[in-house]
Amino acid sequence: MADARLSRITVPAVATAPARGERLVMLTAYDYPSARLVEAAGADLVLVGDSLAMVVLGHDDTLAVTMDEMLHHVRAVRRGTERALLVADMPYGSFHLGPEQAVANAVRFLKEGGAEAVKIEGARPEIVRALVAAEVPVMGHLGLTPQSLHRFGGFRVQGRGQEARAALLAAALAVEEAGAFSLVLECIPSALAAEVSEVLTIPTIGIGAGPACDGQVLVFHDLLGFEPRLAPRFVRRYAELGRDAREALAAFAADVRAGRFPTAAESYDDPATAQPETEPARIYGA
Ligand code: KIV
Repeated sequence: MADARLSRITVPAVATAPARGERLVMLTAYDYPSARLVEAAGADLVLVGDSLAMVVLGHDDTLAVTMDEMLHHVRAVRRGTERALLVADMPYGSFHLGPEQAVANAVRFLKEGGAEAVKIEGARPEIVRALVAAEVPVMGHLGLTPQSLHRFGGFRVQGRGQEARAALLAAALAVEEAGAFSLVLECIPSALAAEVSEVLTIPTIGIGAGPACDGQVLVFHDLLGFEPRLAPRFVRRYAELGRDAREALAAFAADVRAGRFPTAAESYDDPATAQPETEPARIYGA
């Protein structure tokens, strides 16, 4: 969405991106510094994903993360986000009891967290409809929906075979018809993602769904090389910051043990005896 660089990205601007031939960039963020970095990279959307459970909180899957934990991180990301559209992921159990529960929790994300939209996993047009009626913009999410982990029997590619293809296409149309403004497609065959993207008016945002989607999303920690446990083929690592961080922290530990840190230049003198030019004017910054 190059033409919108200077102003805030809105839900209608995202919804109409395919009509303008614009490809959407979405990244996850979970706290103030990651939000600042994603914002500086020019992402159109920042998603506080329930992947928080795995990449930040250390769980083996996304099921355990709670509304309160998600809200805590949505607020931090809000403080670091200016231009990108802020989307909060509805965690497992926050909308599964029905439309009333879904609306109550989604409204918390907008009122208490400052989110501008929510994302919900699965083919749940009745929930999408209720949220949209309550003025909550909704991003759908189909394919490998990690909250369905146990039903799927693991993290597996979805939408393979005629029946599964038809079901996913029907679900995508139902989510759009219910009022979603965009749709994440995760881990499905590229040809199916291309077909869904062709048929829908709203943008598809792919993760492991091939190049024909209207946008792409990756998890912050995967892209930067912080998450060592899962290495699906759709993750391109643009950096190895986990390795770099380990090396930097080990260098600090070695310097401390060898007496190389801190040096005199990294220490303070008594102002009464210090040379003026060696005494910093302030402790932090200018
Ligand atoms: O939780 C998450 O990070 C997500 C993205 C992978 C789309 O749902």
